Amino acid sequence: MKKIYLILVPIIGLLSFFNINAQTTYSNVAPIFYSRCVTCHHENQHAPSMINYSQTFALSSQILSDLTISKMPPWPPDTLYTRFNHEHIISTSEKNAIINWINQGAVAGDTTLAPAPPTFSQYQLNGTPDLILKIPTNFTSNASSNDAYDCFSIPTGLTQNRILRAFEVVPGNAPIVHHVVVDVDTLGTGVSDLSGTCYTNSGSFTLGFYVPGAPPTVYPGQTPLKAGVVIKAGSNFRLQIHYPTGSVGQHDSTQIRLYFYPVGTTGVRPIYTVVPLQNWSLNIPANTTRTFTANYVLPATISLFGVGPHSHKVCTKITNYAFLGVDTIPLIRISKWDFNWQGFYSFPKLVKIPTSYKILATHFYDNTTANLNNPFSPPQNIIAGTSTTNEMLFDGVQYLIYQAGDENIDVASLLNNDPLLTVGTGELAAADIQNYIYPNPATDLLNIYVSKKSDYTIRMYNITGQIIYKTQTTDNLTTIDTRGIAEGLYIIQLANTKSNVEITKKIILSH
Ligand code: HEC
Repeated sequence: MKKIYLILVPIIGLLSFFNINAQTTYSNVAPIFYSRCVTCHHENQHAPSMINYSQTFALSSQILSDLTISKMPPWPPDTLYTRFNHEHIISTSEKNAIINWINQGAVAGDTTLAPAPPTFSQYQLNGTPDLILKIPTNFTSNASSNDAYDCFSIPTGLTQNRILRAFEVVPGNAPIVHHVVVDVDTLGTGVSDLSGTCYTNSGSFTLGFYVPGAPPTVYPGQTPLKAGVVIKAGSNFRLQIHYPTGSVGQHDSTQIRLYFYPVGTTGVRPIYTVVPLQNWSLNIPANTTRTFTANYVLPATISLFGVGPHSHKVCTKITNYAFLGVDTIPLIRISKWDFNWQGFYSFPKLVKIPTSYKILATHFYDNTTANLNNPFSPPQNIIAGTSTTNEMLFDGVQYLIYQAGDENIDVASLLNNDPLLTVGTGELAAADIQNYIYPNPATDLLNIYVSKKSDYTIRMYNITGQIIYKTQTTDNLTTIDTRGIAEGLYIIQLANTKSNVEITKKIILSH
């Protein structure tokens, strides 16, 4: 008896050891939800909340299907073509971790092992805005059996030109604010159109878009690049707000919060916002697909800050690039265009486009039943026009006049360290970060999660002090594929790039 007992204990012990490690529980995947999903999926947003276990569990079958078809997180630009700031993306390993967790039954486990979920404040930009423009308080949505598009014209009251440094659109009632297009009406003569059918915002230029989860717009404001958009004295802002069908009777008090450079600030370079790529001869007969293009030859060398392509619901693909002869500069490719997820995308580095290069926009339109966003069933002939049931090819750009060295300016890092955006002092202090390095022991993937975004370096040392892995990141979740690393004991060190704060933790790799 005794012998059998002695043999069984180690085997059972070993089995349950592996079993515990194989079972993914909520705490293993919570940081992935926190970093990749909950910016949009928290209380009182348009998207359903998944801030804790029970909410996430309730959505698990939809999460599984949305991740499988890459519907969520929504990020239209093709990351193999060009990269942008503030991307909403999930890595394959993070996605697989969630899928495995759900396939294994979306088990709760000890949910107290999960780090505290991030908290959200009403406003994303630090400090006090210089000007707050509001639509009428408690505007009542007029979207009953159709989506409503209402345009609010709001005077700035500016008596002198000011240079915009940053702005943030804050929906009053996020669940019903599908998107907001922000235009500037330089003449200040436009009036509100609250008919629900205001399809053109008809300002002088479009400044930006709000969609759920959109970050505020900040222009770099520190050496080596101080830039902003000139807002002329007497301008109006025009907000076109899209309220969804069925929201009739609900109230909204959306506002836009504007930050200007102080009057008299010198050395601020203007950012121009224009729509050089337009095509008004679109004609897409029912049950056909068509490709249309537009191009523009640059009269001067520019530094491109961002791009904002625009189409409606029959369009399914968009590409923008610049070229001269065989030289091609990729700008943006959207392989599954979705009218609901439009935006102005800014580049991590300014993109130099030399004079006499041509910028080309190509849009593919699918006016068949295969296009699930087709506004008509059966399909009808579609021509160019501003109504959402017409089509558009209307691609905007934001640029500066080129100056030597522009292409080397690290816009991403300037924005990541911008005092308007950083949390507190921007430092990752040991006291206030909640780091979470898991699982431990790790088999194939090691996740490093910090609850605050900051600029820091992650190093992984083996016991002889050699660096096995190193990365510098501003993301709050880093996953390391540990399959190629030998089993054993390692030390993970997080070091803030700005402060001298360092945090270390021992972890074990066992494959
Ligand atoms: C940029 C904002 C944003 C991010 C990031 C985001 N979602 Fe969503 N999600 C939405 C919005 C908005 C909806 C509502 C869909 C609608 O109204 O069309 C939604 C809907 C959903 C739904 C409900 C079913 C559906 O498809 O409509 C699920 C499930 C979902 N998201 C899962 C996720 C997961 C999982 C992540 C992270 C990996 C994620 N989302 C990240 C904005 C976001």
